[in-house]
Amino acid sequence: MRLVSLCCAALLSVMLIVAGMLLSPPGAQAQQAAASSAAPPDVQHSASSGLSQGDIARMLPATDMGANAARQKDPHLAPVSDSPATPFDAAPIPVNPLAPNADAIGAKTCVACHAQENIQASHSLHVISFRAGAANSGPQAACETCHGPGSVHAKDPTAPGSIIAYTHESKTPPRVQAGVCLGCHAGGARQHWVGSVHENRGLSCSDCHNPMTRLSPEGLLAASSINEVCASCHQDIRAKFNRRSHMPLPEGQMACTDCHNPHGSITKPLLKTDTVNETCYTCHAEKRGPFLFEHAPVRENCLNCHDVHGSNQQTLLVAPIPMLCQQCHTMTLHPNDLQTPAGLGTGPHPDERIIGRGCLTCHSNIHGSNNPSGPKFHE
Ligand code: HEC
Ligand code: HEC
Ligand code: HEC
Ligand code: HEC
Ligand code: HEC
Ligand code: HEC
Ligand code: HEC
Ligand code: HEC
Ligand code: HEC
Ligand code: HEC
Repeated sequence: MRLVSLCCAALLSVMLIVAGMLLSPPGAQAQQAAASSAAPPDVQHSASSGLSQGDIARMLPATDMGANAARQKDPHLAPVSDSPATPFDAAPIPVNPLAPNADAIGAKTCVACHAQENIQASHSLHVISFRAGAANSGPQAACETCHGPGSVHAKDPTAPGSIIAYTHESKTPPRVQAGVCLGCHAGGARQHWVGSVHENRGLSCSDCHNPMTRLSPEGLLAASSINEVCASCHQDIRAKFNRRSHMPLPEGQMACTDCHNPHGSITKPLLKTDTVNETCYTCHAEKRGPFLFEHAPVRENCLNCHDVHGSNQQTLLVAPIPMLCQQCHTMTLHPNDLQTPAGLGTGPHPDERIIGRGCLTCHSNIHGSNNPSGPKFHE
């Protein structure tokens, strides 16, 4: 079987090279044709789309999710030693440690019992592609590349652990579940999955992803959007975004993943950049400076004054002004007894330091000033 297909591929490549030489001067193009000739020949037409299996195979992404792909393009980064992701057409069948002697039986047998799952999964890029492009393991691998070999399960479907399953009720340990997905997706954003807080707390990829059903427009998520996925566990954080002051996440213009990498990172808590401030500068670039006069707490950490997930004060502040400032500035040239009833706007001696915009009425450039006469952030 292998031999026959190898011969076919060889024959095809010879034909393609000849065609390439006829159409254009030999050289780069002919070489390219030879390299891409590994694509399987056209087989039958799939009725629904009018595309042949060969068409689909040609359209498959030339994928390399390993970190090296991105790194090699960037002259400033050294390559790392993680292997590139496996392409669809070389999908291996993982070993199920709970049924180590099981053999692959092919998607047809799975579908005989799981017709409904098969219909749902037919939307997914994975299943379409495994069916179309499997040069090594054959289209029968469409289910077993993720669920492991099925012979034991097919004989006794209710035997616990007989198949790699992706739910918390299943006997398959989360690490084995994630291991299957990581077999192809270990690089890139998932470099720090192992050891991450989500991994340590027993999450599986399928807590956030459902590759079987199309629940989200992109990302094969387990809910309709990224924020919905996170909110399924972090309800408290999602609720904070409903406060009076918030960044436009409930409005759908931001996602938790603008700041966090749920797959793990080297910065606590799962931040995408090296520091909190770097995260903020990715969008609020003007706060980076440089400033002639810096306000020390701004340089140190934006969280000294802001609660990123939402606040009932103005502009995400952690405390109202003037109390926010007075947490640090107690004994300044300004007297420290600002909060008397007399000083309020309705009192007998309204104090300009607590009416209007409070301290900000005068110290308006609170994040830093570039004005030569602005050391007190007045201008
Ligand atoms: C003879 C019919 C039959 C065949 C063939 C079969 N299954 Fe199943 N499968 C079942 C039944 C019945 C269940 C439900 C078992 C239960 O509820 O304990 C099941 C459950 C499952 C589950 C969920 C297991 C869990 O613990 O949550 C997965 C995943 C699964 N099958 C995948 C497959 C795959 C992949 C194949 C092909 C390799 C396959 N099945 C072949 C009948 C079958
Ligand atoms: C990309 C990997 C992948 C492929 C390919 C795949 N599955 Fe799944 N399958 C999953 C994951 C992940 C889940 C768990 C989804 C969830 O959270 O409900 C699952 C769940 C299931 C279940 C259990 C459903 C339930 O409600 O408990 C069955 C049965 C199943 N798959 C059968 C199949 C069949 C049949 C195929 C081939 C047509 C297939 N799978 C292909 C990853 C895959
Ligand atoms: C045999 C290799 C292989 C396995 C196993 C595999 N994937 Fe994939 N997956 C791919 C490839 C290849 C792509 C497409 C990459 C691209 O679009 O560039 C992909 C795409 C994805 C995407 C992105 C889809 C999108 O629309 O953006 C997600 C999410 C994903 N896989 C999750 C999983 C999960 C979860 C599992 C385990 C249940 C899994 N994969 C198992 C190879 C695999
Ligand atoms: C806590 C939730 C969560 C967990 C757990 C999780 N993911 Fe994701 N994943 C996401 C979200 C959200 C996105 C979309 C990110 C975006 O668009 O910026 C994503 C995107 C992806 C993508 C496509 C984009 C990319 O980075 O290439 C792949 C592939 C993927 N995840 C694979 C996995 C695998 C494999 C696992 C298990 C080891 C896993 N994910 C575990 C939430 C999660
Ligand atoms: C299945 C439940 C679940 C889902 C879904 C989930 N998380 Fe988590 N997350 C956890 C658990 C459990 C912890 C650990 C909490 C602890 O230790 O206090 C955690 C911790 C975190 C932390 C804190 C990390 C640290 O170092 O303290 C961040 C940030 C986080 N998750 C972000 C996200 C984002 C973003 C998403 C959506 C893409 C998400 N989570 C989806 C369960 C989940
Ligand atoms: C604008 C960037 C940003 C966005 C958007 C964001 N976070 Fe955070 N998140 C942070 C920062 C910064 C911290 C660190 C807070 C600290 O140390 O007090 C944090 C901390 C966390 C923590 C751990 C500490 C805690 O407060 O419990 C969790 C869990 C978390 N975020 C989840 C989420 C979820 C879920 C979403 C989406 C609903 C989200 N974050 C959206 C920046 C963000
Ligand atoms: C992905 C982009 C993005 C990131 C990252 C980001 N922000 Fe924002 N932020 C926004 C957007 C968009 C707005 C709304 C701007 C508007 O309404 O004009 C906003 C508004 C704000 C506001 C004003 C809120 C109000 O009620 O007026 C503050 C304060 C703020 N962000 C602080 C932060 C801090 C601190 C960080 C870092 C932890 C951060 N942002 C990271 C996009 C981002
Ligand atoms: C010393 C307290 C303090 C620190 C630290 C701080 N801010 Fe602010 N921030 C404020 C105050 C007060 C306001 C309200 C200003 C106003 O209403 O004019 C504000 C407003 C904002 C706004 C909305 C208005 C504007 O100027 O665009 C953004 C965005 C913002 N801060 C981002 C940041 C970022 C990013 C950092 C970290 C680099 C940071 N802040 C650090 C006190 C602080
Ligand atoms: C987390 C502590 C902290 C908070 C909160 C804080 N500051 Fe500061 N502020 C500092 C530090 C530290 C300096 C630097 C003092 C120095 O260089 O002697 C400073 C410097 C200043 C200066 C310049 C002082 C000088 O001697 O040049 C002004 C004005 C000022 N802050 C106003 C404010 C106002 C107004 C607020 C409230 C919006 C505020 N600060 C909030 C810590 C803070
Ligand atoms: C009416 C305008 C005004 C208001 C309102 C105001 N300040 Fe000032 N502040 C000033 C001026 C002017 C100076 C410079 C005094 C000097 O250099 O002698 C100053 C200086 C400071 C300094 C530096 C003190 C030092 O030792 O050099 C700090 C800190 C400060 N203000 C904090 C605050 C805080 C906190 C508030 C709100 C409670 C506030 N200011 C409200 C005008 C104001």
